[in-house]
Order: sequence, then C-alpha cells, then structure tokens
Amino acid sequence: MLIKERTSILSSEITSEAIFLNRRKLIKAAAGISVAALLPASARAQVKKYAQVPVGPYSGALQPTDYEDVANYTNYYEFSTDKKSSTVLAKNLQTSPWSIAVEGEAEKIGVFNLEDILKNNPLEERIYRFRCVEAWAMVVPWIGFPLGTMLKQFKPTSKAKFVEFTTLYDPKVMIGQKTNVLAWPYVEGLRIDEAMNPLAFLATGMYDETLPNQNGAPLRLVVPWKYGFKSIKAIVKIRFTETMPATAWSKMGPSEYGFYANVNPEVAHPRWSQSRERILGASIFTPKRKTEMFNGYGEQVASLYKGMNLAKQY
Ligand code: MTE
Repeated sequence: MLIKERTSILSSEITSEAIFLNRRKLIKAAAGISVAALLPASARAQVKKYAQVPVGPYSGALQPTDYEDVANYTNYYEFSTDKKSSTVLAKNLQTSPWSIAVEGEAEKIGVFNLEDILKNNPLEERIYRFRCVEAWAMVVPWIGFPLGTMLKQFKPTSKAKFVEFTTLYDPKVMIGQKTNVLAWPYVEGLRIDEAMNPLAFLATGMYDETLPNQNGAPLRLVVPWKYGFKSIKAIVKIRFTETMPATAWSKMGPSEYGFYANVNPEVAHPRWSQSRERILGASIFTPKRKTEMFNGYGEQVASLYKGMNLAKQY
C-alpha cells in the first residue's frame, strides 16, 4: 500500500480551503477566548499563549508537521552543527529583554525594544511550507507579522535597495561561534522588493506558543519561497543598504549558496539534486515528494524575478 505523506495532504483535498481556514479560525477563537475565559486561573495559564491569534490572509490550507519534529531537528550553527543538539544548547540564550538596531538608508534609525515593535505590529498566524537546502521539507504554523509592514515603519529612503539582517554575536552563550564553520555573526539579506512581498514574515512564535530558542527566538525571518538558510534567527540588527549584502553562507561557499536562494527544482546544489524533498518526520518508507518551484509560492513571487536567469542568479 502506498502510504500518503503526512505533510503533503492538502486539507483542501479533503475540504475546501475556505472551509479549512474558517474551521481553523473557529478552533483558534474557541481556544483563545471562550475556553480560556471559562477556566479557573491555574488552568488558564496552560492555554497556549498565542491560541487567540487570528489566521492571516496568506496562510495556506496545509497540515502542519508535528511540533516535536520541527522543534527537535533544527539548523542553528551558533550552537551546533548537529540538528538535535541546539534544542538543549540554545536554552541558555536570554531572549528578553531584546532590542533591534535599525541602521542605514532609512529615516527612522536607532535601537528599538522588540516589545515596542510588537505594539505596532499585530500578530497573525501563517501556515507555510518550509524547505531546507538540505532537501527536507516541513509545514509550520508560524505566529508573527509581515516583514514589509514593519520595515515601512522605519521609512526606508529611495537608496534602500536591499535589507540586511544580523544575528546576535555572543560566543559565551552561542558556543558554536567559537568555531569557524561560518563567518560570524550570521548575516542574511533580501532585495527590498522581496522583503516587501506580503509573504515575507517575521516570527515570534509557532504552534500557538512562543518560538522555542532553537527555532530562532525571540525574532526570526521566514521567507517561504526560499531555502531555509535565508530565514535568519535571533535577529539583532536590520540594515537598509544600497548594495547587495554579503551573506554568511555565500561567503562560506559562493558556488553553493547564492544570494537569491529561491527554491528551484531545476537548479541542483553542486553536491546534490534539489528535484525532490524528504518530509520531516515521515517514515523512511514514505516516498520523497517533488520539489515545487518557489516552494509552491510562484503565483505570489515569480514576478519578482522576471527576466532573471535563475540558474545563474541562484
Ligand atoms: N539562523 C542562524 N542565525 N543560524 C543558523 O545556523 N540556519 C538556517 C536558518 N536560520 C541558521 C539560521 C538554516 S540552514 C535553516 S534550514 C533554518 O534556519 C532552519 O530553521 P529551523 O531550525 O527552525 O527549522
């Protein structure tokens, strides 16, 4: 018998997307408001922190991967290159208070408390496919807010052609930074029009809870049409620039990791194919699924790359 992949079953195959999303909205509303209100205070504390956060308009009707798989198989080289070790090692990271420095080509630059940023950016849930360059895939219900909406609050100037993100540098806690696996601190970047695309998202939570440290708390980027390494964790700096940022992975291996990093089944990584992907948490008997161009988000993002040779600008 062919066992169907867990995360590849679109709920829309079973029910319509509108019904799926409405149902999810109702479940979330019930979890957050009516149930919580009826419970005694002790039990109320157990209701998930972000259960009442509404489902956003760009959320997909997709079946999320198991939380345990997403939280215990992570890439966080500041702590370890081992995907299971960061769960434990990242516990030592203090994520509150947290501030973000905003620099470069914008009218409103300075150092901002994350709490103040959150006051201006209402949370929503986005269920997104997520595809790692190492050819594994998952579906995550992120909690956060659109990147572009936040960036506009800093009033970028007309010179802002790119936006660069930087992770915390603290080798005492981030013990992987004592090694030279990457050039620290971790830096990532987007072209400004990519950053303003409504799909680009900043996450503070997942599965209705605060983001676990190993998944990038307190604030990480999520760019669902690009390989996972673009989705930088523990962001402390955002810089608007005129020139393309030099990113950590492209410095490490320019022929392997380009600036664009769009999910593209036709452009193989020099050491492996990108045409198929393994579903995180699925059994070894589960057949791999075909990788989709732009990870399935082509309708929303393909126009950003019109006229570009994506085999060269990978
Ligand atoms: N951000 C930082 N600061 N350090 C990292 O090592 N790894 C990247 C990305 N963000 C990484 C990072 C890679 S390679 C991937 S695939 C995703 O995080 C993985 O996200 P997850 O661990 O939450 O699944």
